[in-house]
Amino acid sequence: MIDPEVFLKFLKGRRSIRSFQDKSITEKELGMILEAGRWTPSASHRQPWEFIVIKNNEILEKISKNAFYGKFIKEAPVAIAIVGKIKTSSKWYLIDTSLVSMNMMLMAWTLGIGSCWIGAMNREKVKNLLGLKETDHLLTILPFGYIKGSIPEPKPRKPLNKIVKNV
Ligand SMILES: Cc1cc2nc3c(=O)[nH]c(=O)nc-3n(C[C@H](O)[C@H](O)[C@H](O)COP(=O)(O)O)c2cc1C
Repeated sequence: MIDPEVFLKFLKGRRSIRSFQDKSITEKELGMILEAGRWTPSASHRQPWEFIVIKNNEILEKISKNAFYGKFIKEAPVAIAIVGKIKTSSKWYLIDTSLVSMNMMLMAWTLGIGSCWIGAMNREKVKNLLGLKETDHLLTILPFGYIKGSIPEPKPRKPLNKIVKNV
């Protein structure tokens, strides 16, 4: 087991990263990120997901043009589209794939690799680009790359006494 203090510090230290070095991550690192996604828990163990690895610069450039707050994706050496399979788990695919995304981002952070959830995009256009079906939900596209520049300062969180209720 991981030391709990170390783990909490690790969780608090993670940041969304929006600037990447012009350097590929290794296949081993990419494999570990994908493996962290594969081992995500899911409702009734349905695993309603697919992960699309995107390294092609032209595709990343096109995604960038269709991302409203994610233009920086074109800087990343690789991105992973997290796709929810609606037919496999129509009730839980959103939650299950959100957990996948977090697992992958945390795995990446252990490797010194930054990422950021890109949520706002022209989904229909990007789905077409990636050859997705009507019944595929494109949750997010996560860019992954070594961090360029300094790690951003933490954004303040709501204090526990404002968000925790005891009954
Ligand atoms: C569901 C979701 C959607 C997000 N969409 C975007 C986005 O489109 N573009 C972006 O730059 N960041 C996006 N973010 C990242 C958040 O802005 C970021 O997590 C938040 O500001 C807290 O910063 P931190 O991750 O560094 O702690 C998104 C995060 C989540 C969880």
